[in-house]
Amino acid sequence: MNPDFPIPTLSRSATGLTLEGVELAEIAARFGTPTYVYSLSALRDAFAAYQAALAGRKSLVCYAVKANSNLGVLSAFARWGAGFDIVSGGELARVIAAGGDPGKTVFSGVGKSAAELRQALEADIRCFNVESSAELERLNMIAGELGKRAPIAFRVNPDVDPKTHPYISTGLRNNKFGVAFDDARTLYRHAATLPHISVSGIACHIGSQLLDPAPMAEATDKLLALVDALKSDGITLDHFDFGGGLGIRYRDETPPAVADYLAPLIERLAGRHEEICFEPGRSLVGNAGLLLTRIEYLKHGEEKNFAIVDAAMNDLIRPALYDAYHEVVAVRERETTAEVFEIVGPICESGDFLAHDRSLAVQQGDLLALLSAGAYGMGMSSNYNTRARAAEVIVDGEQVLLVRERETIEALFALERALPPA
Ligand code: LLP
Repeated sequence: MNPDFPIPTLSRSATGLTLEGVELAEIAARFGTPTYVYSLSALRDAFAAYQAALAGRKSLVCYAVKANSNLGVLSAFARWGAGFDIVSGGELARVIAAGGDPGKTVFSGVGKSAAELRQALEADIRCFNVESSAELERLNMIAGELGKRAPIAFRVNPDVDPKTHPYISTGLRNNKFGVAFDDARTLYRHAATLPHISVSGIACHIGSQLLDPAPMAEATDKLLALVDALKSDGITLDHFDFGGGLGIRYRDETPPAVADYLAPLIERLAGRHEEICFEPGRSLVGNAGLLLTRIEYLKHGEEKNFAIVDAAMNDLIRPALYDAYHEVVAVRERETTAEVFEIVGPICESGDFLAHDRSLAVQQGDLLALLSAGAYGMGMSSNYNTRARAAEVIVDGEQVLLVRERETIEALFALERALPPA
C-alpha cells in the first residue's frame, strides 16, 4: 500500500504529482481539465489480487460495470479474463463493444425490461440473477419465444447488516433488492419446474464499501444452509455468486486485503465443487483513478474561503449525494502558507461541493487531484447546467491513452428540437 496516497501508483516528484511516473500537469496540458485519469497498472494489480486470492478454486470475477463503464476500462478487464456484472442492456452492449465475453456475464437488477431480457438471452449470457417471481415468469416466457433455456440464480436477500452507508446497503429485509430469504426455497422449486428456465446458481450482494468481512461470512452461512436445503429437494447448483462490496481507503479507512476479505468465505466453501463468483466494482477501480481539475478562482468569504474549480457535482456527485470524502491534493505544492478552503464547482446549487475544509497552499490556476475517484465517478456524471462531461484517460507506463473525448456542447443538445416557428 502507498502510505502517502490511497492510489498505489500516485507519487510526488520534485515537479509535482505523477501517476505511473507521468506528470499530472502534463496530462492537464495535453487533455485539458476536468479529466478523469486512471492507472492501468493499478487496475491490473487490483484484479490480480482477486485472482491470487482465488487461485486453485474454480472461480469467476465479474467486474461490476456500473462502477466505471468506460470501454477502455472494460477492455482491460476483458483482456485479463474477467467476467462482467451488468444491470442494463446498455451495459451489456458496452461489454460486447469492449470485447468482453457474454458467456462470462451475469445480469443483476430489479427492473429488467422484456427487451433487456431478450437482448441478454440472444447474447447467451452466463446467468440471470433474478430478483422477483414476476421477473422469473417473464424470463421463462421470453426464453420460450426464443426457443432457449435461461440460466438463472435467485438473488437472495440474506438480511444481514453490512454496516455501511444506508444508501449503499442492499441486503437488508427492507431493501428493494433480491428475493426474501424465506421465500427462496419455494421459488427455486417452482423455477425447477419451468420449461425454459435452467436453475444454475445462487447470488447475493449485501452492500458496498464494506470494511468488515464478518457480514459476508454471515451471509455465506445463510446461503449455504439454503443450498443444502435445495439439495435435499433435488436441486443442485453449479455456482455461488457473492456479489461485490469490498471497500477501499478514501481517507483513513483500513479495508481488509482482498485475500483476508475472502478467507472466511473460502474456508466455508472448502470441499464444495461449485464455481464461486464475485462482482467487485469499487475495489477494482476506485483507487485506480482520480479527477484532475483546475482552480478557476479563489474567493475569500466572510466565514469561509472557496476554491472554485472547473469540476463540479455533475462530474463527481459522491460528496453531494453521500457526503463522501475524497482526498484533495495540490498537483504542485507551493511554499506559501496553507489556507482552509471549501472546494466547490461552478454549478448553481449550494450542494455543489467536492470537499469541505481542506488545507491547501494554492493559487488561482493551480491543479488539484481528487483521489479515489475511479469508481462511481464518471459513471454517475451528468450534464447538469449543460456542462460537457470530462475527458477520460488511461495511463499505461509512459503512454497516456485518451479513452473518452471531452464532450462537445453541440452533442449535448443534438437530440433536442426547438419548437417550429409559430
Ligand atoms: N453487484 C451488485 C448487484 C451491485 O448492486 C453492486 C453495487 C455491485 C455488485 C458492486 O459493488 P462494489 O464492489 O462496487 O461495492 N454509487 C455508490 C455505490 C453503489 C453500489 C451499487 N451496487 C457509491 O458511489 O458509493
